[in-house]
Amino acid sequence: MKIAVLPGDGIGPEIVAQAVKVLKALDLDLELNEAPIGGAGYEAAGDPLPAETLKLAKEADAVLLGAVGDWKYDSLPRDQRPERGLLRIRKELNLFANLRPALLYPELASASTLKPEVVAGLDIMIVRELTGDIYFGQPRGISTLENGEREGINTMRYNESEIRRIAHVAFSIAMKRNKKVCSVDKANVLETTELWRQVMIEVAKEYPEVELSHMYVDNAAMQLIRAPKQFDVMVTGNIFGDILSDEASMLTGSIGMLPSASLDQNNKGMYEPSHGSAPDIAGKDIANPLATILSAAMLLRYTFNDEANASRVENAVKKALEQGYRTADIWTEGTNKVKCSEMGDAVVAAL
Ligand code: NAD
Ligand code: IPM
Ligand code: MN
Repeated sequence: MKIAVLPGDGIGPEIVAQAVKVLKALDLDLELNEAPIGGAGYEAAGDPLPAETLKLAKEADAVLLGAVGDWKYDSLPRDQRPERGLLRIRKELNLFANLRPALLYPELASASTLKPEVVAGLDIMIVRELTGDIYFGQPRGISTLENGEREGINTMRYNESEIRRIAHVAFSIAMKRNKKVCSVDKANVLETTELWRQVMIEVAKEYPEVELSHMYVDNAAMQLIRAPKQFDVMVTGNIFGDILSDEASMLTGSIGMLPSASLDQNNKGMYEPSHGSAPDIAGKDIANPLATILSAAMLLRYTFNDEANASRVENAVKKALEQGYRTADIWTEGTNKVKCSEMGDAVVAAL
């Protein structure tokens, strides 16, 4: 199993170290190769996605990534900023399907800012399209108009085949779950998402057992807080999926609990927590590494088809939580507050 390990910036190295610790404890035949990305790539090679790093990622079976970004790079030209490195690697590897499972571990029901009864039993799979939409549409940029005023432009666009392939991912996943897909759009206002809705309806015909519903994104944001358990699979575009998945993470207790898998057509994948580099807590060994550890479990499941070890990791996370281990973000009265590295150790011990 050839894995490219890209720790990135901020808390990236701290959380990735814990996931690597867990993978190494599994007694698998692993080849791990580390390389810089994001701000670390810029520092090392003047490029947030150095050619060497991209090569390593392309040659690997899977990529394990921490996070990228730091305020100190915000004044660089956009092409050199950490976030562009992440967007480029997603595009280069054609990772169009981003799976973000919002699953509540029962032990964390009281860690959520929502009432325990609202989130108990929560299990949503957010399927976010990852290589299209306003993130990549042209034209884009900031230009100066004739009257001297500046104008910012981004273009929201999807073509039919991009929508169709993400629809198939969502429906296939729903077939293995509760057979419900909620497609989230803004079809009342945006033509891009009107097409999105049409294509979803067309693809749904190939999955007669799956119940398809549609929801406008503003309502979906509200429903996620009002009654989140109504959802099974949610499928949506790049920008709405970015926002809704951060929102959904709080239903699970913390953004530090939400893993992700970004897959291509052949399940080659990149695995990273859904959160960012958390510069506000970086270097203190206090970040929650569970989203990254759970992303490593997804790596075993989706790229290596190793359901046994994927479940083993997830059960170890559950056991560490049962034993009362909590990082600061999920700490509640009566539990044991531990550091990032101690949480990694607790999961390894629970394996
Ligand atoms: P963020 O997700 O980094 O942090 C938001 C808040 O959540 C912060 O208070 C942070 O401390 C907390 N948090 C995040 N992860 C945590 C964890 N594992 N444990 C405990 N607390 C955690 O989002 P932001 O502050 O908006 O962005 C910071 C930087 O990260 C920016 O440069 C942004 O572009 C980048 N970013 C990168 C990714 C990625 O690499 N996939 C994702 C989101 C943001
Ligand atoms: C994420 C992040 C990225 C995104 C940024 C850092 C480019 O927020 O992975 O959710 O918007 O996709
Ligand atoms: Mn995001």
